[in-house]
Amino acid sequence: MIVPGSSSQVLAAALAEETGRALATPTYDRFPDGERLAAVPGFDDDEAVIVATTDSDEAWVELLQLQDAVREAGAADVTTVIPYMGYARQDASFGDGEPVSARAMATAISTGTDRVLLVNPHETAVGAFFDVPVEAVDAAAALADPLPAGLRDPLFLAPDEGAAEVAATVRDAYGAGETDHFEKHRDRDTGAIEVSPSDAAAAGRDVVVVDDIIATGSTMSESVAVLADRGAARVFTACVHPVLVGNAVTKLRAAGVDRIVGSDTVERGCSVVSAAPAVADAVGPV
Ligand code: R5P
Repeated sequence: MIVPGSSSQVLAAALAEETGRALATPTYDRFPDGERLAAVPGFDDDEAVIVATTDSDEAWVELLQLQDAVREAGAADVTTVIPYMGYARQDASFGDGEPVSARAMATAISTGTDRVLLVNPHETAVGAFFDVPVEAVDAAAALADPLPAGLRDPLFLAPDEGAAEVAATVRDAYGAGETDHFEKHRDRDTGAIEVSPSDAAAAGRDVVVVDDIIATGSTMSESVAVLADRGAARVFTACVHPVLVGNAVTKLRAAGVDRIVGSDTVERGCSVVSAAPAVADAVGPV
C-alpha cells in the first residue's frame, strides 16, 4: 500500500496509480497539547511505501509516526520515499557547536524503514547518513515537459556548479540548447546571494535557469537579474523542489521571470510536473 504523508498527497496518489498499488488513507490529527497523531486506519498489507516530504518539523514527526504505525499494523517491508528532504542542506557542521542535522534526521528515519528513496537530494552524499540502503531518484527530466516548443537559441543555466547536472538533464530532455553555470556566493550571516556570471552569451536568447531547489528565491532572482542585464529574451525558471518560502514567488516575478516550473516533490501552485514516474521505476512492481 502507498501511505501518503500530509504534504505529499498528490504525489502519493500519482504513485499509487503508476504502480498499481492501493492508496491508504491516513489521518493527521493533533492532541489538545499540540502533539501530533498520524495514523493509518485499516492498513492491511505486508508492504508499505510511505511517501512523505519532510519540509517542516511537523512533517518529520509525522513520518516517524507513519513508519511506526505500519510496522505496528504488520508491514514486513517498509520503503520510505522522501520526495524533498528538509535539513539535507545542513550536511556538515558549519560552525562551532553546530549539529550535522541531515545525519540526525537520516538516523531517525533509518530506524523505521528497510530502504529509502531520495528524490534529487541536494547532495547525494547525504545518502551515507542513513543506516539502510538508499537510492537517489532523478526526477529532473520531467521539468522539460512544460517548456514551450521552439525556444530561441536556448541556454540552460545553473545558478551554481552544484546544479549543473540538473540543468544538463533538463537540456537533454528538452532536446536542444547549450548549458552553462554561474558561480554563487551566499553570505551566511545575511543570506545575501551574489552570482558571478560565466561568460555565457544571453542576449536575445531564451534562458531556462535550472536549480534543484528554490527556497527564498534569492539565488534565482539574482541569476535572473544578471540575465536581464545581458539582454536575455525570455527567462524561465525550473526546479525539482519548489519550496518557495516567504515572498519567493513575488521576488521572482519582480525579477522578470516568465514562468516557474516545479515538480510535486513539494506541492505548490507551480508543481506542474510529477516525480511519480521516476519514483515508480525505483519502487518497482507490486
Ligand atoms: C543550493 O546550493 C541550492 O542548489 C539552491 O541554489 C538553493 O537552495 C536555493 O536557495 P534560495 O532560493 O534560498 O536562494
